[in-house]
Amino acid sequence: MKSDIMKMMMQGLAMAFLLISTHISAADHACSDCHATATPNANDLIQPLSGLCADCHIDRITAGEHVIGIPVTTPENTLPLHDGVMSCATCHDPHQSFAALRMKDPELCQQCHLK
Ligand code: HEC
Ligand code: HEC
Ligand code: HEC
Ligand code: HEC
Repeated sequence: MKSDIMKMMMQGLAMAFLLISTHISAADHACSDCHATATPNANDLIQPLSGLCADCHIDRITAGEHVIGIPVTTPENTLPLHDGVMSCATCHDPHQSFAALRMKDPELCQQCHLK
C-alpha cells in the first residue's frame, strides 16, 4: 500500500519533469525561426536583423530597453556589430540556447560603458 503511493508519486514527478523539459525544448528557437533555407548561413536570414528579433519579441521594444540600430565602437572589439550598428545579436548570441547573453553583467555593459 505504502509503496503503491510512493510509486504513484514517483510517476507524477517523472511526468512533471517530462512536461517541463518538453516545454523548454519546444520553446527554444529552431534554425527556421531566423534562417530561410535548409542550409542556414549568414546570408539567408528571413529578414534583416533590425526587424528579425523584434518581430517575435515585440515586447522587448520599449522605452526601457537598450537602444539598437545605433553606430557604436566597442573598445575591445569583442561584441559583433551588424552593418556597423548595434543589434539584438550584439548582446545575445542567437546560436546559444535561448539566445543567451554573450557575456555576463557587468562585463557585457562595460565593453562600451567604461565606468
Ligand atoms: C534567433 C535567430 C537565429 C537562430 C535561431 C539561428 N540563427 Fe544562425 N544566424 C543568425 C544571425 C543573426 C546570424 C549572423 C548573420 C550576420 O552576422 O549578419 C547567423 C549566422 C549563421 C551562420 C553563418 C556563420 C555565423 O556563425 O555567423 C550559420 C552557419 C548559421 N547561422 C547556422 C545556424 C543553424 C544551423 C541554426 C540552427 C541550429 C541557426 N543558425 C539558428 C540568427 C539565428
Ligand atoms: C520566429 C520567432 C522568433 C524569432 C525570429 C526570434 N525569437 Fe527569440 N524566442 C522565440 C520564442 C518562441 C522563444 C521561447 C521563449 C518565449 O516564449 O519567449 C524565444 C526565446 C528567446 C530568448 C530567451 C527568453 C527567455 O525567456 O528565456 C531570448 C533572449 C531571445 N529569444 C532572443 C532573440 C533574439 C536576440 C533574436 C534575434 C537574433 C530572436 N530571439 C529571434 C521566438 C523568436
Ligand atoms: C545591451 C545589451 C542588450 C541588447 C542590445 C539587447 N538585450 Fe536583451 N537582454 C539583455 C540583458 C542584460 C537581459 C537580462 C538577462 C537576465 O535578466 O538574465 C536581456 C533580456 C532579454 C530577454 C529576456 C530573457 C529572459 O531570460 O527573460 C529577451 C527575450 C531579450 N533580452 C530580447 C532582446 C531583443 C529582441 C533585443 C533587440 C531588440 C535585445 N534583447 C537587445 C541585454 C541586451
Ligand atoms: C556595444 C556597445 C554597448 C553595450 C554592450 C552596452 N551599451 Fe548601453 N549604450 C551604448 C550606446 C552607444 C548608447 C547610446 C548613448 C551613448 O552614446 O552613450 C547606450 C546607452 C545606454 C543607456 C542610456 C539610454 C539612453 O536613453 O540614453 C543606458 C542606461 C545603457 N546604455 C545601459 C547599458 C547596460 C545596462 C548595458 C549592459 C546590459 C549596456 N548598456 C551595454 C552602447 C552599449
